Amino acid sequence: MKTKITFLLFFSLLMPISAQVTNSVVPKPVSAEVQNGSIVISSETKIWIELGEEMQTLGDLVASAINSRIKAKVFATAKMTKDIPKSLIKLKIESGFSTSEAYKIIMTPNTISLSAMSGNGLFYAIQSLLQLMPIETEGKTFSIQCINITDEPRFAWRGMHLDVCRHFFPIEFVKKYIDVMAMYKLNTFHWHLTEDQGWRIEIKKYPKLTQIGSIRKETMGDGKPYRGFYTQEQIKDVVEYARRKYINVVPEIEMPGHAQAALACYPELSCTGGPFEVGTVWGVINDVFCAGNDRTFEFLKDVLTEVMDLFPSQIIHIGGDECPKTRWKACEKCQTRIKVLGLKDEHELQSYFIQRVEKFVNSKGRKIIGWDEILEGGLAPNAAVMSWRGVEGGIAAAKAKHYAVMSPGTHCYFDHYQAQSGEPKAIGGFTNLEKVYSYEPIPEALNEEEAKYIMGAQANLWTEYIKTTEHAEYMLLPRMLALSEVVWSPKSSRNLNDFLERMKFQYSYLKKHNYNFRAPRDEIK
Ligand code: ACM
Ligand code: ZN
Repeated sequence: MKTKITFLLFFSLLMPISAQVTNSVVPKPVSAEVQNGSIVISSETKIWIELGEEMQTLGDLVASAINSRIKAKVFATAKMTKDIPKSLIKLKIESGFSTSEAYKIIMTPNTISLSAMSGNGLFYAIQSLLQLMPIETEGKTFSIQCINITDEPRFAWRGMHLDVCRHFFPIEFVKKYIDVMAMYKLNTFHWHLTEDQGWRIEIKKYPKLTQIGSIRKETMGDGKPYRGFYTQEQIKDVVEYARRKYINVVPEIEMPGHAQAALACYPELSCTGGPFEVGTVWGVINDVFCAGNDRTFEFLKDVLTEVMDLFPSQIIHIGGDECPKTRWKACEKCQTRIKVLGLKDEHELQSYFIQRVEKFVNSKGRKIIGWDEILEGGLAPNAAVMSWRGVEGGIAAAKAKHYAVMSPGTHCYFDHYQAQSGEPKAIGGFTNLEKVYSYEPIPEALNEEEAKYIMGAQANLWTEYIKTTEHAEYMLLPRMLALSEVVWSPKSSRNLNDFLERMKFQYSYLKKHNYNFRAPRDEIK
């Protein structure tokens, strides 16, 4: 008897937990209501889609998730039968959503209905549905607890950055990175392609950039050459791969600073004339593009022309951070430029530099974004700001009616330590999962009107101390999931304990997809 009571007590304690675990979706949807009953998925399940290539691709995603779980051969088809099948998944384009990314899931014990205004919204509906499926199944069927979801993102810019310059990552990994972003409804991949320590993108007009600029003779004194770059064909392949996952790729070409790899190839674009070698140690380097030399701007126009041909992104990142003014102060050309234009100082010279580049990018129908130093000396007229040295840059930009993306080092730098001890060597800082989760992208200093200029937030993965793909995944995950909730879910639904509860499923989900991640100590077997 006592055993029976203990047993019942045990189960009644378990009930609310299992009810909660029914919906482990990350990022948390705007609304999710568990319904009575569940739907059985089997080899008899039909997937109905609308006609078209995009719909077929989306339907195939659902089919393959089912087939991999129960070893069936269900498929998506636009050919509907008159009889309503016992188990049906419908993908439908409908109007009446707030954005192309919004979606709805309605479930009954017979039907799962996914709807959205576009393929993008349906893709996100599918991402949620995949998280509602069991990870492992035995046998020929599985069931999904009925749940109705209405969902839309809070922010338009939901970004992740990857530095492929300090350490280089192969195309297969870049795609795997894009895959996990898509699983969690992130939509902007910021690809940091040029640096002091390596130029990683092929530019046809300047072949030395990759012949010389993609190789450094050693790293922090290790005596071993290090190299790597992407061909234009590989870049196109990644951009198209990301597009199919509804992710925009924003390339970053660093200027005027962090340019030593380029200057090693074309020293005439510097203030001193060089010679230079591709950077071998981390930090901020004094040699930068000369702002008094028109050839610098011709070079950058040519590079950006090829970059804009490769990347359809409306917005191009031009760097702008950490540009020491030492060389400009001592350079005759730079000083002449300051005098002729009546500029106050080298900060205004940097502003001139960025504005000149912006004018060119705007002439091609695109816009620029830069790190928050581009505010110094005066912001270029149409530029957006990526606030990294804190939130002040984002606040200043929004108050001046410029768009901003929040990426403060305090909460959004995934090269920081994830725990106080026992972690692999990192650059410094402390940004654990909880801290990322606590981030609020709209600074209190902004009123409602100004807050509209905050496009969203992103986290950055700088790779000075990250040499391998496993390590990169470890630094990315699980923190990226906290970020996804920060940028997608309503502010009012943020609840750390609820998030951590849902994360239990997500760790298994990441494992299923072969990602390396930092498991919470003592919580995960
Ligand atoms: C940066 O972290 N230097 C943008
Ligand atoms: Zn100069």
